[in-house]
Amino acid sequence: MDADALLNPERRMLRVMQQKENHEWTLEEILSACEWTDQAVAVGAGHGLSNTGLVNTSESSSALVRLADEGLKAKENGLLEARIWNWLSKSDTPDMKGLQSEFERHEAGPGVGLLKRLGVQLENGVFTSANPSDVSTKIEARTAFLHQLPAASESLDGELLEHFKSRRGLIESVISTTRTWNITPKGQSVEPESLQEKQSISEITTELLQSDAWKDADYRPFDVTLESATPRTGRSHPMQALIERVRSIFLEMGFSELVDDYVQTAGWNMDALFIPQDHPAREMQDTFYLENPKSIDLPKHLTDAWGAIHEHGGETGSVGWGGDFSADTSKKGLLRTHTTVNTIQYLAEHPKEACRVFSVDRVFRKEAIDRTHLPEFHQIEGIIMEEGANLQMLVTTLKTFYAKMGYPEVRVRPAYFPYTEPSLEIEVKWRGKWLELGGAGIFRPEVTEPLGISSPVLAWGMGLERLAMLVLGLDDIRQLYISDLEWLRNQPIL
Ligand code: PHE
Repeated sequence: MDADALLNPERRMLRVMQQKENHEWTLEEILSACEWTDQAVAVGAGHGLSNTGLVNTSESSSALVRLADEGLKAKENGLLEARIWNWLSKSDTPDMKGLQSEFERHEAGPGVGLLKRLGVQLENGVFTSANPSDVSTKIEARTAFLHQLPAASESLDGELLEHFKSRRGLIESVISTTRTWNITPKGQSVEPESLQEKQSISEITTELLQSDAWKDADYRPFDVTLESATPRTGRSHPMQALIERVRSIFLEMGFSELVDDYVQTAGWNMDALFIPQDHPAREMQDTFYLENPKSIDLPKHLTDAWGAIHEHGGETGSVGWGGDFSADTSKKGLLRTHTTVNTIQYLAEHPKEACRVFSVDRVFRKEAIDRTHLPEFHQIEGIIMEEGANLQMLVTTLKTFYAKMGYPEVRVRPAYFPYTEPSLEIEVKWRGKWLELGGAGIFRPEVTEPLGISSPVLAWGMGLERLAMLVLGLDDIRQLYISDLEWLRNQPIL
């Protein structure tokens, strides 16, 4: 047996135990023979020696009965029945009235009950007892019982134990563990010389490093394979952490963040984006329209401009969608179905200034909840407006974003949105498969002209929860929002 790996307390304990081969050591014996005062040191050393098979540990648990809060008070001031009995024996007026003036109501009531059960009677308001010495004996036995505690439950009088168990707060029972140790043949065969305690260093200090002593010092080894408790500290929800990460990537790429309301008009959410008024996505089945505000006013010049574009293309050379445009439909209040509703308004307010703007925010669609759909989710939205902006720049920006997120393989495919031309779908490669994460494109003249926007606008909108599923390796989107603490604790730091 190699004693090298033993810690100093283990060496000392084994050395002590080698002196009495067939002895069962109690904790007290170990403490005194090793000259220790701390029980934890002895228990720890015993545990270490057991693990290496040098000693055997026997554990036995027993129930220990001790005084609880009320019991401690009763030991100090006397049991309630003792105090009342004492008073009765001395009082000139041993009646209910006297009792009530001497003891508070919360004691008088239960006190009478206790005495009755001890054989004291209450006749016409006066307390009498057929056998006063029997009452005294019983009360003394109860008092003596309390003074015996703490004690092992088997050593106590069963009847009195049951009696006190039935009374609130007087006694309680705790489990206590007793350990004993005896040395094994393997422990006995360890060379006593190898059990010398060594000066080993368990803490590296500046002084040690500054001197030369560290070179020849003996270091206490750490067992990194031992089980240990995982520290639990507060932390961000993974969705919040992901939002922060997305945010910092766009900020780093020179974008400014836009935060805006999610109560919007159909006009900005759809008409401004040249989504036809009879488009199926506008139906109640897809969009949450509001009861309050049912309608939100819009300036007439806007509804007129959108009307002209939708009906015949306005000044853009487009032929529009035809049909009749309704300004009332434009004014309907709704919960935004995409964050493009906010970037388009930003552009309307700053039609001539080049910009890079993003948002990470909540949108709403009337979806049935399933593995990949939620009625409330988040979009990562962005626009770049500047002279000469082009498709290449759009694709590069999106690729850069996903590369910074840790997904270098990105491809785009042709797609369709009523408000962009050309339009793209963005796909990211994950575990060998291409996954669609969002849409993008360049705003059409039908969108930009009525607002007086002069330069090309690159735009995109991507699903945040979709991205979260990739980052966290989920196959059910609902996992993100069910507040499963165990799962939340085990998520990686993003
Ligand atoms: N708004 C689109 C969506 O919700 C995404 C998109 C944004 C597409 C901007 C093109 C341009 O899916």
